[in-house]
Amino acid sequence: MDKLKIAIGSDHGGLRYKNSITEYLKSENIEFVDVGTYTTESCDYPLIAKNVAEKVASGVANRGILICGTGIGMSIAANKVQGIRAALCGDTYSARATRAHNDSNILCLGERVIGENLALDIVDIWLKTDFEGGRHTRRIDMIE
Ligand code: RB5
Repeated sequence: MDKLKIAIGSDHGGLRYKNSITEYLKSENIEFVDVGTYTTESCDYPLIAKNVAEKVASGVANRGILICGTGIGMSIAANKVQGIRAALCGDTYSARATRAHNDSNILCLGERVIGENLALDIVDIWLKTDFEGGRHTRRIDMIE
């Protein structure tokens, strides 16, 4: 696995989990850039999603994590950026499978949907699972 450099962002609906996840990243010595938001004031998730997605697409970061209330808005917005494969996950099976099969490069989470410990387990598995390649590479090429 390449050395991880994470771009992470949330709107106000995902701020609490973003803070927990950045604490986890520090504890694992994983490098990250936090693009905000930094306060509970209401803000617009598409701008945060674009910022993180462009960092991943350009190689400034090799993976991204986005959190909003549902994770849905973030995933829709991030997937508009060429080269981004953003996966909204609410379970650990999907987190592992989307890395192994889809080589997802952004993980989206919904703070209002899943519990905090589950969110942290999903992050841990998603970060530590490698892409399997093989037949899955052809399918990813089709997406591009
Ligand atoms: C903000 O209220 C909410 O719409 C946002 O966090 C997210 O759930 C959008 O998909």
